[in-house]
Amino acid sequence: MPARTSERLSLISRHFNEKLPLPQLNTPFSSERNTLPPDDIDVQVYKPSSPSVLLQSSKQTPATMSSQTPHSTLLIPGPIEFDDAVLQSMSHYAESHVGPAFVKVFGETLSLVRKLFQNIDPKAQPFVLSGSGTLGWDLVASNLIERGEDALVIHTGYFGDSFAACLETYGAKATQLKAPIGDRPSLPQIEQALKEKPYKIVTITHVDTSTGVLNDIKGIAEVVRRISPETLVVVDGVCSVGCEEIAFDAWDLDVVLTASQKAIGCPPGLSIVMTSGRAIDRFKSRKTPPSSYYASMANWLPIMQNYENQKASYFATPATQLVHALHTTLKQITARPLSERVAIHAHASDKVKAAVAELGLSQLASKPENQAHGMTAIYLPEGLTPPDVLPGLAKRGVIFAGGLHKEIASRYIRFGHMGVSVTDPARKDIDNAIASLKEVVVEAKKAKGL
Ligand SMILES: Cc1ncc(COP(=O)(O)O)c(C=O)c1O
Repeated sequence: MPARTSERLSLISRHFNEKLPLPQLNTPFSSERNTLPPDDIDVQVYKPSSPSVLLQSSKQTPATMSSQTPHSTLLIPGPIEFDDAVLQSMSHYAESHVGPAFVKVFGETLSLVRKLFQNIDPKAQPFVLSGSGTLGWDLVASNLIERGEDALVIHTGYFGDSFAACLETYGAKATQLKAPIGDRPSLPQIEQALKEKPYKIVTITHVDTSTGVLNDIKGIAEVVRRISPETLVVVDGVCSVGCEEIAFDAWDLDVVLTASQKAIGCPPGLSIVMTSGRAIDRFKSRKTPPSSYYASMANWLPIMQNYENQKASYFATPATQLVHALHTTLKQITARPLSERVAIHAHASDKVKAAVAELGLSQLASKPENQAHGMTAIYLPEGLTPPDVLPGLAKRGVIFAGGLHKEIASRYIRFGHMGVSVTDPARKDIDNAIASLKEVVVEAKKAKGL
């Protein structure tokens, strides 16, 4: 065999060789990935003669959910644990994406998205697209700002850098307003920045998942409207929609983008973007065409409007089963007052944060008003790193995430407390995780002689 062919074959076959170490990933997630015990990273090979091999692992702690395969409890800041009914919606039989039954479900789902955002203004438009949260950034960067125009990025961690990089990919000029790690730019600082230069858009990460820092969206939107009324207020709500308060119309927001897999409690794969009438007018008055094809609002706006009006329409095939799952979870969420859901998350968050303080640990977000309610980023005791504690937690059936902020990734861990893990009173996920964290920190300190 020629040398180059065998080299290529050996590269391809690496994927099938179970004994090779995991390849390095080019992200800070690699520290957490390398500490997961084999049960959580091994791909279970399907064997037709013993179907149960896919389903059971006696070493794992069964979670309390009724119809799911026993598994460790996923308490990273997204994806999160799923409700049984939401998961079951994914096994919907095949149906046409332009048939009346699916059109009805998709149309209702878009109306439910409006409800989730407390939106009644008909000039606003929700979008539900196949893709992850990142697609929302592309939608903003390729439709709502043009090459050479200025964007102000309010930076509170890793996801601010990434949103800025996305804006720059499409030719916008991103100016980042940064705060020290764990803090957020103040309203007077934002006001000052807006006075220095006219910006087409301001982007704010509502909760930066790398730091657990919460931004004051309502306060920032008020400042923008007062200082620079035409500037679009764009919120990255990937780690906040479904657990933090968001009043789209009342706070006069222009875009809130999110993803299906966090506090909304749906499997990953849907990008959900709420846009105001002002944002749609901005798109319509562009001097240049949208700089993306798949993410073009010109392509998607009529499709979303048609589905909402129960009319079949096609630009690109929607993820029909995921839309069913989103429909189910949004029905559940909106069946009760949103304020109640926000309060339940705040209560669980208080419990986690009190336990962290009791352990003598501190959070990245040091001020109570800066702290997110769906996750907590926790500094480890001096001398410990995520690989000292994550495997111990995993052994107890609890999956947390490692650090993500590039400057301090090895010094902290992240605990996600969103969705059914906090809203279902039958589940004891948060209490179990707190108890496990207490044991594991004591154990890890002892092992290191601290
Ligand atoms: C705040 C924030 N924004 C954007 C993203 C990107 O979303 P996705 O990974 O679904 O593309 C994430 C992902 O965790 C996030 O936490």
